[in-house]
Amino acid sequence: MKERHRALRLYPAFLALVAMLGFSPAWAGEEDGMTLLKNRCASCHNLTGPAPASIHALWERKAPDLFYAGNKFRRKWLISWLQKPVRIRPAGEFYADHIKPGPKRDMVDESTLKPHLALSAADATLAADALMRLRAHDDLIAKEHVPAGTISTSMGSLVFDKFLGCMACHRVKPDFGGLSGPELYTAGDRLRPRFIASYIRSPQAWDPKIWMPNKHVSETRIIQLVHYLQALSKGESHE
Ligand code: HEC
Ligand code: HEC
Repeated sequence: MKERHRALRLYPAFLALVAMLGFSPAWAGEEDGMTLLKNRCASCHNLTGPAPASIHALWERKAPDLFYAGNKFRRKWLISWLQKPVRIRPAGEFYADHIKPGPKRDMVDESTLKPHLALSAADATLAADALMRLRAHDDLIAKEHVPAGTISTSMGSLVFDKFLGCMACHRVKPDFGGLSGPELYTAGDRLRPRFIASYIRSPQAWDPKIWMPNKHVSETRIIQLVHYLQALSKGESHE
């Protein structure tokens, strides 16, 4: 009996020693990553879903949804972007709040856009790993198959711009293309191929109220577009 009491009294000391030695169980990283996201990201980003269910809620959204981040992003890109974030949506979120009329066409009002917070290398890895575990749309990804392949950027741009009108909202080079959607010349580095395919197939399956139209793009064209965006990221059309 006495022995047990002593053991109980010593237990906190034992825990303190373990903490001092820096020993942590394998799951501690997962917990820390999620805590970091909740503390530093959740005030702007939705980490749990669902996506906005009304146009009003969409316009009020402060930042892109991250509850399917693991279906969407490449881990390597996340780790580097979180340390050195650069603009992805030329006019931010929500774009119409950051646009002013220019002499010829609408321009981005830079003065209203704030830089994104940056993380240390260790926190960026922790956050990226936690984000990669958020995979609310494994179902949509499972439906896609993107065979390896290439397309010339001239053919790709014909499909993207002339046939399907994607350039009205997306940039394919810095300063060239529309302002209301994310730039796409970095999409190949940023996004997983099957996400790109699925999003083009049905933007509303991911984000029910989003203004990107469903153009009922054929399977062949979807694959061509994925290959085109991958080619753009490799810098093949940055003359
Ligand atoms: C003050 C609000 C705010 C906070 C806090 C914030 N973000 Fe963001 N985040 C944004 C906005 C706005 C964008 C869109 C930037 C753009 O498109 O150029 C963004 C974009 C992103 C993107 C790219 C998303 C996409 O779909 O393109 C990732 C990833 C991201 N944030 C992660 C994080 C993480 C991780 C944290 C916490 C460590 C965080 N953010 C904290 C506002 C915020
Ligand atoms: C009317 C404007 C509009 C048109 C036209 C349009 N998009 Fe989009 N696109 C958007 C918006 C808005 C988003 C989502 C923005 C967000 O998540 O903040 C988007 C998202 C995307 C994404 C995911 C990018 C990312 O970073 O999350 C891809 C890929 C894409 N569009 C490709 C295309 C292709 C290919 C076409 C032509 C078939 C096209 N878009 C036509 C507005 C448009």
